[in-house]
Amino acid sequence: MTGSGVSAESGVPTFRDAQTGIWTKHSPEDLATSQAFEANPALVWKWYVWRRELIKKAQPNAAHRALASLAQLKPDLSLVTQNVDGLHQRAGNKNVIEFHGNIWHEKCFSCNRHSTSLEKYSEQPPRCEICNGLLRPNVVWFGEAIPEEALASASLAAAQSDVFLSVGTSSLVYPAAGLAEIALQKKATIIEINTNATPLTTKTDYSLKGLATLWLPAITAHVKRSIENH
Ligand code: APR
Repeated sequence: MTGSGVSAESGVPTFRDAQTGIWTKHSPEDLATSQAFEANPALVWKWYVWRRELIKKAQPNAAHRALASLAQLKPDLSLVTQNVDGLHQRAGNKNVIEFHGNIWHEKCFSCNRHSTSLEKYSEQPPRCEICNGLLRPNVVWFGEAIPEEALASASLAAAQSDVFLSVGTSSLVYPAAGLAEIALQKKATIIEINTNATPLTTKTDYSLKGLATLWLPAITAHVKRSIENH
């Protein structure tokens, strides 16, 4: 399970890190809720255009690349991410479970029809070709449900996991933060990589304090060696 801390070193701001976190500058209520979009669609749209620009300039980092290599070494690895930036896929990961959606995808606020981003950087949200409703980013806003398929496959993966690796997430936002608890109940080995302590830290078997770009390559190298030595 990954969070915004994995993309932080690619220049994509996290949400809650002091000073740098997005939510230290903006209130989620004003930008990441359906009420906010209803009240001021242009403001919300412009904010996502700003985030898309940032993400477009960003490159996958050593943490993203290490997870892509780990998936090659361990085909039964399930990668669940709360990140909407698509950087895991750009690093080569396939079948990423996007728990909070993807910023490059859009859906209609009225008829819910999904569409893949057409890279429109207009001031106003584009319109739905079917019902002329406003298109919104296909991400999960506060108060909204997790996409059913993502929730089902992520919960199953957590319940079947022998090792649960939680990387760069504050483990504050549910139901994502509940996946580690499912794995915990199933007696999985819980490993956390984070620059700070989180509510999950005391429940882990291994709490690896520090940068994702340092710890993930080390873990991948360790797994590679142990496979080669077998
Ligand atoms: N390496 C490892 N951990 C890091 C790094 C790094 N380079 N940089 C930051 N972190 C850690 C922080 O200590 C923090 O615990 O990453 C975590 C980021 O936490 P948040 O900003 O809360 O982001 P996240 O957990 O992904 O947020 C969950 O909340 O705002 C919503 O939908 C949004 O998906 C998001 C969800």
